[in-house]
Amino acid sequence: MKILVTGGNGFIGHALVKHLLNEGNNVKVIDIKTIKFSHPNLEFVKKSVLEDLRWDMRDCSMVYHLAAELGVISSDKKPLNTLAVNIDGTVNVFRSALGTSVKKIVYTSSSEVYGEAREIPLREESPKSPVSIYGVSKLAAEMYAYGYVKEYGMDINPVRLFNVYGPGQGFEWVVPIFIQKAFNNEAPVVFGDGSQVRCFTHISDIISGIETVRKKGAKGEAYNIAGTGQITMKDLAEMIIKVSGKSLKPKIAGFGKDTRTREREILRRIPSIEKLESLGWCPNVSIQDGIRMTYKWYEKSMGNLELFYED
Ligand SMILES: NC(=O)c1ccc[n+]([C@@H]2O[C@H](COP(=O)([O-])OP(=O)(O)OC[C@H]3O[C@@H](n4cnc5c(N)ncnc54)[C@H](O)[C@@H]3O)[C@@H](O)[C@H]2O)c1
Repeated sequence: MKILVTGGNGFIGHALVKHLLNEGNNVKVIDIKTIKFSHPNLEFVKKSVLEDLRWDMRDCSMVYHLAAELGVISSDKKPLNTLAVNIDGTVNVFRSALGTSVKKIVYTSSSEVYGEAREIPLREESPKSPVSIYGVSKLAAEMYAYGYVKEYGMDINPVRLFNVYGPGQGFEWVVPIFIQKAFNNEAPVVFGDGSQVRCFTHISDIISGIETVRKKGAKGEAYNIAGTGQITMKDLAEMIIKVSGKSLKPKIAGFGKDTRTREREILRRIPSIEKLESLGWCPNVSIQDGIRMTYKWYEKSMGNLELFYED
């Protein structure tokens, strides 16, 4: 039996697939982007999650569903595609698994489903009020997951990932953007006043978190997966500058049309991870170590993301 990973050629998917292969699993990847490495236990199917997936699931025992149209800004530019891939595509994954050998689905949702926190820390049952098309799409797909659990008894776990970072992440995300700025001897630009709090999570803690949910997650339950690295955006920029050894200062850009409007900014995103900790998981990588390791990777690879996907 195989483990199916949709979106297995992406930033998180690639790390997950490598982990699953290293653990001796047979893995099948479905992605619209061709995978760039081979392994005797890896099968790749170039396909959209919007297509019929029933045949692909015939020899799979579980599914990690990661394929998505990503990010708040890019999904604003492609709202219909975001809704199609993130909602229809996800429902299609659930529907295709019905009546197959698939016993469990872990669906990567997002901290974006919470929107601005109405309570701190954000617990899995905290109110949800997403402020982006991306966040709405991830929450809508979660609601379908609960529907499939209730209606068909399927075992689906949404996992809400908080600000993931690590080697190989694309240059549209804040950690690689700040690192690239430091490489170029330019000041990292911080939107707003820089006091926004995030909880950055190293990719290795994400992988161990979703693996814990696969092995021990209770049927139909959602889990936050987040690191312990609570930090303001200004402090993040300063930390990256310090690691780079450059003498730079973050540029505080304020809110506005050219940066980000105040209405769209989330000020505090601080999760509770107690629920996943109760399954025996804990994050291992501090924000200081994670940023240092990530900086070193971009330095060594000279920012060439292809290197991440080839090995
Ligand atoms: N990166 C983060 O900080 C973060 C945070 C919260 C949640 N997530 C979730 O984690 C998952 C993976 O994120 P990532 O950072 O690896 O993103 P990514 O963009 O690197 O990977 C997404 C993958 O999905 C594939 N894909 C897109 N549309 C597809 C389609 N129609 N059919 C099949 N494949 C398709 C892409 O080709 C890509 O390989 C997503 O579901 C995302 O919503 C990510």
